[in-house]
Order: sequence, then C-alpha cells, then structure tokens
Amino acid sequence: MLDFILNMPTKIHFGKGEVQKTGDIVKGYAKKVLVVTGRSSAQKTGTLEKVLTSLKKADVDALVFDRIEPNPRATTIDEAARLAREEQCELIIGLGGGSAMDAAKAIATVALSKRPIHEYIRGNHTGLWKSLLPIQEALPIIAIPTLAATGSEANSGAVITNWETKEKSSISGPGLFPKAAILDPELTFSVPANYTADGAVDIFTHLYEGYLTGDEEAHVQDEITEGLMRTVIKYARQAIDSPQDYEARAQLLWTSTLALIGVAGAGRGGPFPVHQIEHTISAHFDISHGRGLAILTPAYFKHIVKPDRPQRLARLGRQVFGLTHKNLDEAAEAAIAAVEDWMKSIGAYDTLQNVGIPKESFQQMAEDTVRVSGMGQGFVAATRPLQANDIVKILNAAYTGE
Ligand code: NZQ
Ligand code: ZN
Repeated sequence: MLDFILNMPTKIHFGKGEVQKTGDIVKGYAKKVLVVTGRSSAQKTGTLEKVLTSLKKADVDALVFDRIEPNPRATTIDEAARLAREEQCELIIGLGGGSAMDAAKAIATVALSKRPIHEYIRGNHTGLWKSLLPIQEALPIIAIPTLAATGSEANSGAVITNWETKEKSSISGPGLFPKAAILDPELTFSVPANYTADGAVDIFTHLYEGYLTGDEEAHVQDEITEGLMRTVIKYARQAIDSPQDYEARAQLLWTSTLALIGVAGAGRGGPFPVHQIEHTISAHFDISHGRGLAILTPAYFKHIVKPDRPQRLARLGRQVFGLTHKNLDEAAEAAIAAVEDWMKSIGAYDTLQNVGIPKESFQQMAEDTVRVSGMGQGFVAATRPLQANDIVKILNAAYTGE
C-alpha cells in the first residue's frame, strides 16, 4: 500500500427530507447566499423552492443564479461570480448535478479572488494554474446534489470548460471542500432513466480507473471498490425500474459520494485516463460526461488494459460479476463483455458514431487530451503512458464499438 494523507472535512447530512434543514445548516456560516443551479430541473421539481423556503425560515437572504449549463462554462462562472461579489453574498450553494455543484465551487473561488476562472483550469494554455492551484481559499460552499454521479458534493475538485479554447479540466484544492453536503435521496427521484444510467457509469468509472491503473497491493481498497461497484450495478437497475424507490436512490447517492471522496483510492493512487479523454470529448462536443465514459470504456479495456494488466480485469470479472474463467486471457475478455453487457442493460452503452462525433476530430482531440491532461509531460498516464496515437486508437475503436 502507498503512503497517503486523507482529508474529508465535509460534514454530511444524509436522509429523507434533509433538504428542509438547509436554512439551519447555512445560517451558521452566512446571512446572505447565492444559490447556483441548472436551467430547469430544480425549478420543475420544486427543489429550488424547498431550499429557498428553508433559507427564508432561517432568516438567510438568498439570490438565485439559475443558468448553469451541463459541462459548466468559464464565461458563466465569471458572470455568476460578479453577481455574488456585487451583491456581497457570503456563501455559495450548489444545487443540482455535478455541473451546478462544480460551478458553485468555481464561483466561490472567483468571487473571492476576482481572477477569471480560466486562469485556474489545470493544463490550460496560460500556464497560470501552476501557481494558482491548489486553491486554498474560496467563499464557503454548501452542496446539495440532485443527481447521483460525480461525488462533487464532498470532494475538493470541480471540472470547468473553456468553450472558446475547448479546454475542459479540473480545478482543485482544500478551499473547495463544501462545508456541508445535504444528501436527500428524494431529490433524485425525478432523474430520468438516461441520466440515472449515465450517473451510474460515472460512479462505476470513478471506481475502476484507479483500480485498474493504481498500486496492486492495496487490498483493502480493492475490497471497498468492488463492494461499491456491486452496489452501483444492483441499485442502478432498481432505480431505473422504480424511480421513486427510496432505498435504491439512497444506495446510489451514497455510493456516488463514497466513490470519489478519496477513501477508495487513498493508498492505491492511479491515474484516471478515461476521464481525461472524456473531458476532451465533452469540451468539443458537449455530450453527457457519463455517456462519454460509457462510450470509451470497452475500447480502453480492450486496447490498453487487457494487454497491460489482464489480471486486474480478471479480478474485476470474478469479484464484481461472479465470473469463473480459469484462463487469464478468457477471464479478462469475459470481464470486458460483462461490463459492456451491464452498460447495455441500463441503456448507457453507446458509440461515438451514434452520438454524431466525426472521425475527423479524433487527431485534434487526442492532441488536446495530451496537451491539457498531460500537463507538459507529453502523455496521459494510464497502465502505460498514452501518446496521441494511443488515444486515436481508442477513439477509433469507440467509433463503432469494435
Ligand atoms: O441543468 P438542469 O436543469 O439542472 O438538469 C440537469 C442536466 O440536464 C439534470 N438533472 C439534475 N438533477 C436532476 C436532473 N433532472 C431531473 N431531476 C433531477 N433531480 O441532469 C442533467 C445533467 O446534469 P449534470 O449536473 O450536468 O450531470 P452530472 O452530475 O453528471 O455532472 C457532470 C459534470 O460534472 C463533472 C463532469 O465533467 C461534468 O462537467 N465532473 C465532476 C467531478 C467532480 N467535481 O468531482 C468528477 C466527475 O468525474 C466529472 O468530471
Ligand atoms: Zn466522472
């Protein structure tokens, strides 16, 4: 096991109706807040109203910024941060999926520092991020997830897109840990089947990335990871079949938090190459993050992990899907098929061709991934250093799913 430091400072309030306590939780930190949310779901479901009512009851003034797009953009962040500053908001609430929560973290950063967010984005062309990260200070943040996927509610990262330069990458630092996360599974009842499935694939990918690329002697981490993988597989199905099944939504939501809170990966490490390639795809073509991961996963497994670390795929197949193949090659192959079948069964499986991404874009996207996510190394770390031509190979395979 590798050495590690694990910091998990976010206070988690989990339970039915917990959203009604928002005002009481927030009032210890601020008298005036900016509520940051997406364009429609929190309004339609009445969740925004619940948050505002609770804040009012606690005598907390609230302003709303409800124009965060999926794959939140730097220009939107800067605009909302200006509002927060002008209105002297003391705290930012992120209400929604990963996009709204990530935007809240970025807005909290810019509102305090007055620097445009693009300067902070890791790997971007200005190079300023090298001195600005890790972010130590931001306005206090409270996260209220309405979608089980990213784990942003209790971690110190956020992913922001500079649409003009097609750079999508992370910002991070201890200043971005939400002070509190309010996890109310009922808020996720309204998530449609497609986003429930994409979210499940995102959770699954957060789990398999380090599991496949990291230290192989991290046994407790492997057991934790496999347990979380089995849980997401079981309850994604149940939540899609019965969207208002409280237990299914609760299991999925808590699994999404646990998958990226640091506990599964501490002491194992391991890079997240599929995330890095997906971030470039959604920076160029604005697709759903989870769907992009689903598209890339079988191609990455077949062309990179199977030749490099078949034993890890074989273990995943055995521990997560109950496969019993004795021969290593067959076991790895069967594990890839099992993951692909699972994604098909929940409707998340897709191809680049099917979502309209042209082959002509592959070379540029591969180079962008190496430039942005490689951070000057000239490659993206995985089970081996991935060069642009390796990434083109993955994209080609993901085009038709071969
Ligand atoms: O935009 P609104 O109107 O809110 O609708 C959203 C959006 O259309 C909708 N939605 C959210 N909650 C809902 C709901 N619809 C009905 N009922 C509800 N309760 O779902 C759609 C997708 O939302 P979004 O926030 O974009 O999805 P997700 O949670 O998957 O977040 C994706 C973003 O997070 C980043 C991704 O790159 C992407 O930009 N990530 C953030 C991470 C982090 N901070 O740790 C890690 C991840 O790996 C990821 O990169
Ligand atoms: Zn992800």
